[in-house]
Amino acid sequence: EVNTEAELLIDENLLGDENEPRSYRGAQLWRLSYKDQQFKSAVSELQKTYKTSIWNIQMANSSNSYVDLFVKPAVVDDAKEFLRKVQVPFNVIMDDVQDAIDNENPPLEETDLWQNRDGHPMTWTAYHNLEDILQYMDFLAKSYPNLCSVKTIGRSLENRPIKVLRISNGDPSNKAVWIDAGIHAREWISPAAVTYVIDHLVANWDSETLDVKAIDWYILPVMNPDGYAYTHKGDRLWRKNRRRHINRLCNGVDLNRNYGHKWGGQGASRQPCSETFAGSSAFSEPETKSVNDFLKKSGANFKASLSFHSYGQYILYPWGYDRKVPADHQDLDRVAREAAAAIKNVEGKVYTVGPAGSTLYPAAGGSDDWAKGDLKLKYSYTIELRDEGRYGFMLPANQIIASGEESLAFARVLARNLVNA
Ligand code: ARG
Ligand code: ZN
Repeated sequence: EVNTEAELLIDENLLGDENEPRSYRGAQLWRLSYKDQQFKSAVSELQKTYKTSIWNIQMANSSNSYVDLFVKPAVVDDAKEFLRKVQVPFNVIMDDVQDAIDNENPPLEETDLWQNRDGHPMTWTAYHNLEDILQYMDFLAKSYPNLCSVKTIGRSLENRPIKVLRISNGDPSNKAVWIDAGIHAREWISPAAVTYVIDHLVANWDSETLDVKAIDWYILPVMNPDGYAYTHKGDRLWRKNRRRHINRLCNGVDLNRNYGHKWGGQGASRQPCSETFAGSSAFSEPETKSVNDFLKKSGANFKASLSFHSYGQYILYPWGYDRKVPADHQDLDRVAREAAAAIKNVEGKVYTVGPAGSTLYPAAGGSDDWAKGDLKLKYSYTIELRDEGRYGFMLPANQIIASGEESLAFARVLARNLVNA
């Protein structure tokens, strides 16, 4: 999802009581056309004066471009009045963001049937907290010692473990794929879909394709555990990690701006209060540093990286830092289109394929550029999972399984391309 250049020095929303869950009662999500200058200036005025934030942007087809703006309750009326004056029409996609938050996850009793069915707490009918996900990973390592192992590759700022699951038949000639999820805390579908992939691979390993079995899968379901825990307890819409800044007014570094390839360039902010704050230097955060150290030192034969986000339904490849493409972009594009076709076969959803910088917006310091530019992994993608804006970050839990199937479809396409390269 998106953030534009508009910066604010102090974001008043960070001054609340951190022990009190934050309410989004009365906040709204609006869709504005983005097709010509009149609309673009209205959006930048909304960003500047009303401190809206862009959650989603669709520019694939210029006559149909739009942006979705999150509007805080305090400015809803004034911002409406402004748009009326400049005669810019808009649609309200969510008239109360808190309602969407309250409705995304069914009460756990409804999924109790599945609880502890196999000796672990995970289900794919509800979103789970960090403890459940970590326990599930340990359960797999214990129950399938010949296939799964877990490694704590580092610790978050608040000392939570950063755990990677490896799924491998142990053949030393295997190529390896890196998968991360949950870089951005509020994108709950990302860890949910990726743990679904894990569950499916492990449970059906024997019947999986030969290609899938010839890959060593390294999967990190929650790369930003502090942020993820915070979205479960404090602020459902938190994006960054939980780095405390000296002034204590604004916290958090955007981990997807903190990687070391072209760090600090376009689309990455120097302001700690920004949602896209790049941090004090490349890999300044333990979460990104642990991943970088692990991949650099690992003996595995990594060939590809998938980074799962939400939302917007995109398959993006480098470069993200600028509107440029690498020399082998046609290979990346071809595999992405195969993946999009496989995803479409799941439930007909359309994922837009393209280079990150020109398809969305340039944003430097992302995991995809690092995997391609620093690690030199040929195939590097960012996947923006469902949806196209109806529910956004609050995708109802009854779409976890289908999103997991879409993610799995991508993994299979990738395996086929790597093994038959
Ligand atoms: N929504 C993602 C973000 O803002 C997109 C990242 C795409 N990759 C990139 N290097 N810009 O982090
Ligand atoms: Zn994201």
